[in-house]
Amino acid sequence: MFHVTRRYAFSASHRLHSVALSEEANRALYGKCNNPYGHGHNYIVEVSVRGPLDPATGRAVDTGVLDELVRSQILSPFDHHNLNAEVAEFAEVVPTSENLGFEICRRLKRNWKRTFAGEWPVLEKIRIGETARNIFEVGAHEIE
Ligand code: NI
Repeated sequence: MFHVTRRYAFSASHRLHSVALSEEANRALYGKCNNPYGHGHNYIVEVSVRGPLDPATGRAVDTGVLDELVRSQILSPFDHHNLNAEVAEFAEVVPTSENLGFEICRRLKRNWKRTFAGEWPVLEKIRIGETARNIFEVGAHEIE
């Protein structure tokens, strides 16, 4: 069994602001990340899959197929976009890296079976790097 991790990058802007909290509470909680005009990040996304070696190809995952899935579901809708304003799921959900991780995982899972028809590879986890100091990780089995 192989574990394969593929790394992608996109740039996006966002604002951390919770509709469940007052203006003051948002400012206190999120600080400069609550700036009404937003700010940007160069995100790194790592997608980890697991599968046996296919003896015919010598590979555990067709990376070209995975790339196209990530391009269509993640990079194209997120890269150089404002997450709050342009991604419907973040209209009211705060686009923290945790919630971004959930959403990326959800999008990949939702489209996984039509992308990889067989039993393998399976989606294992995704990791998001938002800044040089933060890595956020979510297991595919942890979400619907
Ligand atoms: Ni931010």
